[in-house]
Amino acid sequence: MSDRYNPETWSAVESFLSQRLAPGEDPFQIVLDRAKAAELPQIQVSFNDGKLLSFLVEMTASRKVLEIGTLAGYSSLWMASTLPEDGKLWTLELDPAHAQLASQNFTAFSPGTKIHLIEGPALESLPKLEAHAPFDFIFIDADKPNNAAYLAWALRLSRPGTTIVLDNIVRDGKIIKPELEDPAAEGVRQGLDYIRGQRRFDATWVQTVGSKGYDGWAILRVTD
Ligand code: SAH
Ligand code: DHB
Ligand code: MG
Repeated sequence: MSDRYNPETWSAVESFLSQRLAPGEDPFQIVLDRAKAAELPQIQVSFNDGKLLSFLVEMTASRKVLEIGTLAGYSSLWMASTLPEDGKLWTLELDPAHAQLASQNFTAFSPGTKIHLIEGPALESLPKLEAHAPFDFIFIDADKPNNAAYLAWALRLSRPGTTIVLDNIVRDGKIIKPELEDPAAEGVRQGLDYIRGQRRFDATWVQTVGSKGYDGWAILRVTD
């Protein structure tokens, strides 16, 4: 295998870039440390993706953000960090242990009332959010078999111009290997088919490599 395609190269390049482009400490490092100590799965977005989410929230001048899949709140805190003073973020989490740690992290970082965590299956929480719609920015990052249902809800809770980011659309290439019968990859494929069938989405994507392997985002704009 050529060195260019070696995952060790991707990780080494990530460190190299991080030392040059973001040499200070991750502002949310403590969240990562606590999540590790609590033995939560280490599946939060990377530092550079977290920062990119914060840029996107700011560049889209978003005031109301929705996140599906909180974990310890790492991506939530990145997105909340660039919200305006009167901005709000709702984040949905099924697992009580994840929700508890996230809630502690939100209190520590975000005094005031910017972040609202709703515990329970996202499909049960989403109908309650209709009162706060439309959202300006939506990040979908939970159980992949529900991706198509989450995209349908995202559309319902959107306005023309809403930006939707869908995490994990590549999954180390499993996405093009239905024969593996990986339920998460199958869920991602169903979500992508849903996007293809919806004329109200205008879509692009980024494919990423780094310490988290080979993955990517779909980035959608709601057209009308
Ligand atoms: N966005 C987070 C990572 C989320 S990991 C970050 O980057 O920091 C996916 C999360 O989705 C896990 O915490 C998992 O418990 C949660 N999840 C799984 N199924 C869910 C469901 N049905 N409803 C809500 N959350 C769910
Ligand atoms: C997994 C889930 C994620 O949301 C992610 O970003 C990485 C991995 C997983 O379930 O394996
Ligand atoms: Mg993810």
